[in-house]
Amino acid sequence: MTGGSIRYGIEGRVFLVTGASRGIGLAIARELVEQGVSLAICARKQEGLDEAVKLLGGREKVLAIQAHIAKEEDVERMFSEVLGRFGRLDALVNNVGMNLLTPSVADTDTVLWQKILDTNLNGTFLCSRAAARIMRQNKRGKIVTVSSIAGRRASPGMGVYGIAKAAVEMLTRVLAAELAPFNIQVNAVAPSMVRTEFSRPFWSDPAIYEQVARAIPMGRIAETTDVVHPVLFFTSDGSDFITGQTLLVDGGASAV
Ligand SMILES: NC(=O)c1ccc[n+]([C@@H]2O[C@H](COP(=O)([O-])OP(=O)(O)OC[C@H]3O[C@@H](n4cnc5c(N)ncnc54)[C@H](OP(=O)(O)O)[C@@H]3O)[C@@H](O)[C@H]2O)c1
Repeated sequence: MTGGSIRYGIEGRVFLVTGASRGIGLAIARELVEQGVSLAICARKQEGLDEAVKLLGGREKVLAIQAHIAKEEDVERMFSEVLGRFGRLDALVNNVGMNLLTPSVADTDTVLWQKILDTNLNGTFLCSRAAARIMRQNKRGKIVTVSSIAGRRASPGMGVYGIAKAAVEMLTRVLAAELAPFNIQVNAVAPSMVRTEFSRPFWSDPAIYEQVARAIPMGRIAETTDVVHPVLFFTSDGSDFITGQTLLVDGGASAV
């Protein structure tokens, strides 16, 4: 399901998608270009951004900003650049996330703990705060965060990542309650395994793939487009009375 086959009525709106040089973020960015939005994206590495800009149709179509979302000065510069180019911000998609395989919490050192929390939680806080300050003035806006089912159940090797994603879901609810009077909706999507570089070590191993797919009623892992459309729904007027929710995008895994 790609190529603007579903219309969301968001053409002309200004979007920032974090972590959009590859994977789910890039897939969201591609669909947003199809939908005719004014788009800004970010990532840490310039080469990845350059490639993404080419795929998205060039610098006239998309503003690419090199930024580390856990660095406050980078985040402030990024939002200033978005306002400088487009004059406003209608929707933020907090897509950045990372995992480093971790031992048990009892064996996790402080540096590793901090690193995972920095990107997944602190970075999402910094971007959401910056967006909220802009959107409050406009009395409208949408913030959507890509969480993970790892935030719902304790999974080996993903303990600290899961803790960060669980906190991101609470951040979503707190922001939703605080920003509702300003007509800003804040929601999240929580996918199970999605076929990207991030999860390659798992899906590229046939034995692991088989085991994961067996636990999913739909019998397969998610493709990036499976995540794109729920995110776009949360940025559209169709979700104006939905806020503080996390939608599981898991092929039915949590239903059984
Ligand atoms: N793939 C899955 O199975 C899966 C499942 C559930 C949830 N998720 C969540 O989905 C989101 C996207 O995952 P993905 O699989 O698409 O990941 P990915 O393929 O690793 O892509 C991550 C993107 O974020 C950028 N990025 C990473 N750290 C950053 C930082 N500190 N500041 C700015 N940009 C940064 C990366 O570019 P640079 O490296 O250049 O910065 C890249 O563009 C994450 O929140 C992840 O937790 C993924």
